[in-house]
Amino acid sequence: MRVCVIGTGYVGLVTGVCLAQIGHQVVCIDNNEEKIKLMRSGQSPIYEPGLSELMVANMQSGRLEFSADLSEGVRQGEILFIAVGTPALPTGESDTRYVEAVARGIGLHLDDAHYRVVVNKSTVPIGSGDWVRMLILEGVKTAQGEGVTSIPNFDVVSNPEFLREGSAVYDTFNPDRIVLGGNSAEAIELMQRLYEPLIRRQFSENPDLPAVPVVVTDLSSAEMIKYAANAFLAAKISFINEVANICDRVGADVTQVAKGIGLDSRIGGKFLQAGIGWGGSCFPKDVLALIHTAKDYGYTTEILNAAVSVNNRQRLIVVEKLQQELKILKGKVIGLLGLTFKPDTDDMRDAPALNIIEQLNRLGAKVKAYDPIVSTSGMSHGLTGVQMETSPEMLADSCDALVLVTEWREFLDLDYARLAQRMNHPVIIDGRNFLDPQTLTAQGLRYLGIGRS
Ligand SMILES: NC(=O)c1ccc[n+]([C@@H]2O[C@H](COP(=O)([O-])OP(=O)(O)OC[C@H]3O[C@@H](n4cnc5c(N)ncnc54)[C@H](O)[C@@H]3O)[C@@H](O)[C@H]2O)c1
Repeated sequence: MRVCVIGTGYVGLVTGVCLAQIGHQVVCIDNNEEKIKLMRSGQSPIYEPGLSELMVANMQSGRLEFSADLSEGVRQGEILFIAVGTPALPTGESDTRYVEAVARGIGLHLDDAHYRVVVNKSTVPIGSGDWVRMLILEGVKTAQGEGVTSIPNFDVVSNPEFLREGSAVYDTFNPDRIVLGGNSAEAIELMQRLYEPLIRRQFSENPDLPAVPVVVTDLSSAEMIKYAANAFLAAKISFINEVANICDRVGADVTQVAKGIGLDSRIGGKFLQAGIGWGGSCFPKDVLALIHTAKDYGYTTEILNAAVSVNNRQRLIVVEKLQQELKILKGKVIGLLGLTFKPDTDDMRDAPALNIIEQLNRLGAKVKAYDPIVSTSGMSHGLTGVQMETSPEMLADSCDALVLVTEWREFLDLDYARLAQRMNHPVIIDGRNFLDPQTLTAQGLRYLGIGRS
C-alpha cells in the first residue's frame, strides 16, 4: 500500500520506517527541511535502538523516501498518517496547532483520484477526529473556491500510538494491541490490511503467539483509550512512589513490597519501580490534557490531580535526601548520572533531571552530569546550570554526592570503588532503585535509594 506519514519525530519516523519494513511504499514528510536533508543522507535525527539501520536498509530498497513536499505525499498516499507533535500549552490543554496545519494542508492537496484514509496517530484531544475532518473539508474549500465542485472521498480514523521511546522499533513489531477508531467500515478494513503482517506477528520476536488483538471502536473511544492508558500508567507509578515514601518512614523496602504486590495478577509487576517519578514527552502532557478535558465538562479529576502532585514532589525527593545527608548544599558539587527521562533515548522533554538541576542551582550547589547519549553526542538541548562531563570518572572528581537519575544499563557495571576514591564524600543517591545496595556499600559508597531504608 502507498503510505504517507506526516511528521518525522519519534512516532512518525519509527512508524514510517517500520511500515516500509513490512512491505509498504512509504513517504515521510516533514516541514523541517534540515531534518529531511539529514534523513535523505541516511542519518536518523533521533536516537532509537535499531532505527538507523532499518531506515537505511529501506531507503536502499526504494520503499522509503523523505520529502518536505506535502502535496506529493497527499496525492500518492492511500493512507495518510498525521504524526506531528501535540505539546502541552501552559494551561495544560493540548496544543493542536500542528495537527490543524497538517489537516488543512491535506485538504488543500486532496483530489478525487482515489479514496484515502486520514489517520490521527498524534495523541489528540477527544473529538479531534471530527475536527480533523472539518479542517480537511475547509482546506478543500480553500483550494477549490466557494463553488466546490467535488468533495474528495476520504475518511478519518483514530489509531493511537503506544510505542515506548527506547524500544520504539521493538514495540512497533510486537504491539500488545492495535486500536482503530472510526465509523467507516471501508477505512477500518484498509487499516487492518495495512497492519496485517503485524497483526499476524510476521515481524514479531514471538511469531507463534496468537494474533495481535485489534480493538475496533468509535473515534472518541479510541482517542480516550490513549489518554486513559497513559493516565493509568502514570497513576500506577505515583502510587508506588507514595508507598515508597511511607516505606522510607516506617523502615520497609519498597522493592520487596513491589515484588510482593506485583505477583498478584490483578496488579501486575510492571510500572511498580519507585523512583524520581515519570517524565518525558507523553505522560506529563497527556495526564494534564485529560484533566483539562474533564474540566471542560465540569468534572474534577481527583485521582489524576493526586498523581500529578505526587509526581511533582517526587522529582525533588533526591534533593531532600541530599539535604538530609550533606545538610548545606550551597557550595557542594553534585554529580548526576544520566539526564534523559529514561534510558535508550535522547529525549530530554520534561525530564525529571531538569527540575533537579534547577532546584540544586537554586540551593547554591554546583551541578555536573554525565549521560551516555547527551555527553557523547554533544547535544545540550538548551541545558543550563549544569557542567557536562564526558566520563563517569570525570563526573565523580571532587563530587560531594552522586545521584543516579537515569537507569542506563552501563551504570550497572561502573567501577564504583574507583568513583568513590575520586569523590569528596562517597555518597550515592539511587533515584531509580537501579543499583544493588550491598555491592555499592562493599565498594565504599554510602548508598541511599528511594523507599529502601
Ligand atoms: N514520543 C512518544 O513516545 C510518543 C508515543 C505515543 C504517542 N506520541 C504522540 O505522537 C505525536 C508525535 O510525537 P513525537 O514525539 O513523535 O513528536 P516530535 O516532536 O518528536 O515530532 C513531531 C514532528 O512533526 C514535525 N512537524 C510539525 N509540524 C509539521 C507540519 N506542519 N508538517 C510536517 N511536519 C511537521 C516536526 O518537525 C517534528 O519532526 C504526539 O501527539 C505525541 O503525543 C508520542
